[in-house]
Amino acid sequence: MRQFLIAGNWKMHTTPADAATLGKAIAERQNALKPSSRVQTLICPPYISIHAALENVKGSGVLVGAQNCHFEPKGAFTGEIAPNMLKAIGCTHVIIGHSERRQYFSETNALLNKKVKAALHEGIVPIYCVGETLTERQQDQTLQVVRTQLIDGLLDVSLQSASQLVIAYEPVWAIGTGLSATAEQAQEVHAAIRSLLKELFPNAGADMFILYGGSLKPENADEILSKPDVNGGLIGGAALQADSFAAIVATAAKLSVS
Ligand code: PGA
Repeated sequence: MRQFLIAGNWKMHTTPADAATLGKAIAERQNALKPSSRVQTLICPPYISIHAALENVKGSGVLVGAQNCHFEPKGAFTGEIAPNMLKAIGCTHVIIGHSERRQYFSETNALLNKKVKAALHEGIVPIYCVGETLTERQQDQTLQVVRTQLIDGLLDVSLQSASQLVIAYEPVWAIGTGLSATAEQAQEVHAAIRSLLKELFPNAGADMFILYGGSLKPENADEILSKPDVNGGLIGGAALQADSFAAIVATAAKLSVS
């Protein structure tokens, strides 16, 4: 029996009112589908829309997370949000190191390592994102880039907390472009990630969730999620429509019992 996590990254979309509407629509579809506990569904709205989303998915089993956090628990960090604040509002997960954060906000593996550890310390599941650019892929550097992102980003993560970690492989060239990796390309990198995770965390690596992200949509979900080392998806564009998001959840639900 396979397990999946289907996570929606809403990025900088939705006011609180929009989040209430979208959250409600997602909850309705989730209630109709009733996937088994082997499929977790998560939505990650912008900070100010988290509360509205939480209120509207109540009772549906849909989890709510954030898209970023700071690494300190409190202090003079204007504009930042601490992991314990996310926990207090009801978030279970936080996306860390999305390629847009790395690219537009200069977040480095060293900084992201602090965020991953801070989230774990607070009992929030970090979804740590890795992935290569198009140039890196063309230069055959994909596995090396991902390996460095993992080794540096997960430095000093304790063996006990490693089982809480989720990894998202998101080739940068596939994000928001409509051009997803093929299922074979995804599986190749996921398998390499899996073998590194087993090296780094001998007790947990085999079972850790590795999500695929990058133009994942209902049309390619079955093919990609069928691959043995793919444990779900991190979804941008297709997560902003309740129907397409629910269709991906339904695919995972089908695969979880097949
Ligand atoms: P996309 O985004 O599904 O729109 O490609 C994925 C992501 O950035 O997490």
